[in-house]
Amino acid sequence: MTLWSGRFRAGLNSLASVLNNSLPVDRRLYKEDIRGSQAWAQALAAAGVITSTEAETLVNGLQAVLEEMESETFQFSEKDEDIHTAVERRLTELVGAIGGKLHTGRSRNDQVATDFRLWLISAALRLDAAVDSLQKTLIQRAETDLAVILPGYTHFQQAQPILLSHWWLSHFWTLQRDRERLRQLSERAAVMPLGSAALAGTTFPIDRFALAKNLGFSVPSPNSLDAISDRDFAAEFLFWAALTGVHLSRMAEALILYSTVEYGFINMADEFSTGSSLMPQKKNPDMLELTRGKAGQFIGLLTGLLTTLKGLPSAYDKDLQEDKSAVFEAADTMEVLLPVLEGVISTLTVNAERCRQAIHPAVLATDLADHLVARGIPFREAHEVVGKVVRLAEEKGLDLMTLPLSDYRLIHPAFTDELYSALSLEASVNRRSVYGGTALNTVKEQVDLAKKALA
Ligand code: ARG
Repeated sequence: MTLWSGRFRAGLNSLASVLNNSLPVDRRLYKEDIRGSQAWAQALAAAGVITSTEAETLVNGLQAVLEEMESETFQFSEKDEDIHTAVERRLTELVGAIGGKLHTGRSRNDQVATDFRLWLISAALRLDAAVDSLQKTLIQRAETDLAVILPGYTHFQQAQPILLSHWWLSHFWTLQRDRERLRQLSERAAVMPLGSAALAGTTFPIDRFALAKNLGFSVPSPNSLDAISDRDFAAEFLFWAALTGVHLSRMAEALILYSTVEYGFINMADEFSTGSSLMPQKKNPDMLELTRGKAGQFIGLLTGLLTTLKGLPSAYDKDLQEDKSAVFEAADTMEVLLPVLEGVISTLTVNAERCRQAIHPAVLATDLADHLVARGIPFREAHEVVGKVVRLAEEKGLDLMTLPLSDYRLIHPAFTDELYSALSLEASVNRRSVYGGTALNTVKEQVDLAKKALA
């Protein structure tokens, strides 16, 4: 039986009920649904709506339902419209007619919003731990690859030499902001809808503050209409997944390039690479490509939910039933993606020699200009002078290192043979010892800072 059959003469068309039933999606909310119902039964007793013995019967009956769910002996019925129906139906089978008292003063509207928030809050905790673990791997990489120098790019053209450790940590800080966002959205989700009933608030004298505390929410929602309609927490979660996905995708894209024969900066471990059915030599970075590909999926899920929400008048509309699959899909994908990416990163090997060889000496042009600046030449002039040096070297098929001093001096008399010592990759990196810069000692401090941020 449905929870609403009273006013109907005929049952729901069978195909319509396939469309209507959300059980395949929301059955995973059973734990939250049962926990919420147990707290609701206690709140009803505290309000004098049911007796404490009745509440005890309901709480124990729900506990038995939970055990069936956990041991996978729970028999779902075709008629179970959603997880709320299934739990109440089974409860009533177990404890008898008194099971029918559970839903007093409650609606599935405040029930589902409560369950979903509880689920999201615990999923956020799990994902936070997964991101934390990935961040630790990035710190380890920074420590392992501490002094490895590679080309830094802007416009994807070689710009200045940087430390690989600095590059790894750049992704650490991005993820740190993602975690802040996750924690903040989870805090905002910790507002309890229960007691809002269908839309206008329950008629029974429920202490919603005590109920919120009992369920681990920070406060009860201050407006029942808002509480029923609000799916901001789901949208925020999907935005978190989309932005985190975009961040992971950007890192993956760089790693894919660095793993090509042309770059050869890194080599992916076999356990995280795949082969080709046709070309025997292939070792493909599928995990990184999937990381990049999943970003599109996350963005799509966010766009989908926002589109679903945009035209909805308050309070509950059945459209809202579409909220869960998007969030579950995003969370499930992240729960696999994050540890796989961690595996890719922790097992790849770095070819420090290749990283170094790939650096064109022209990336030291800024250092050469700074060298002139140290000799009192205004930077704007130094920039122009070094530009001419780069052009001359290029014309002669030479580079900044091999261009003879006589040529340098033709362009500017301030050049002496000391210029060649300015043209060192290590010196270039270490001159960037400003807070946040790529100098070796600065990055060492950054590693400590990153560790502290996680503690
Ligand atoms: N399965 C529904 C959902 O997920 C539960 C709420 C149903 N409420 C209603 N008024 N039909 O949205």
